Amino acid sequence: MIAQKMQKEINDQINAEFWSAYLYLSMSSWFTEQNLPGLANWMYVQYQEEMAHGMKMFRYIHERGGEVKLQPIAKVPTSWKSPSAAFDEVFKHEQKVTSLINKLMDTAVELKDYASISFLNWYIDEQVEEEANASDIYTTLKEIEKMPGALRMYDKEFASRKFVDETQE
Ligand code: FEO
Repeated sequence: MIAQKMQKEINDQINAEFWSAYLYLSMSSWFTEQNLPGLANWMYVQYQEEMAHGMKMFRYIHERGGEVKLQPIAKVPTSWKSPSAAFDEVFKHEQKVTSLINKLMDTAVELKDYASISFLNWYIDEQVEEEANASDIYTTLKEIEKMPGALRMYDKEFASRKFVDETQE
């Protein structure tokens, strides 16, 4: 049985993951409106990844005999100053998510909840990739977004990204 404190914090994180999904869905819409379908697709895949992150926690609470308590999803922004501004927000948001995952790990360690430590290790590894991806795209966009031709070419690189559910064993 999972401890109440751990259960509460993972429930809060499910909400944070779903909020992230909602943020990236909003960004996907904005990129579509900017005629950047590749980046819109990248964000749509990111939305699916965040839903999967939340659902992995949802399944885990049940596996441990706990209760999932879904909470309201707060409002997300709907427009950005530029493509790089959107990715700057993604990068900063992912840094925040990393700190939330680290806090969950602190709780698991404090409670000597070895199952949760093992479970959370997946998220610790995932966050390294999430931050690196956002930072790389931000850096490139910052350099090229004032050059429409280069921006369109770069955008095409993301058109073929497909969602692969890495949360399923
Ligand atoms: Fe679920 Fe982007 O972290």
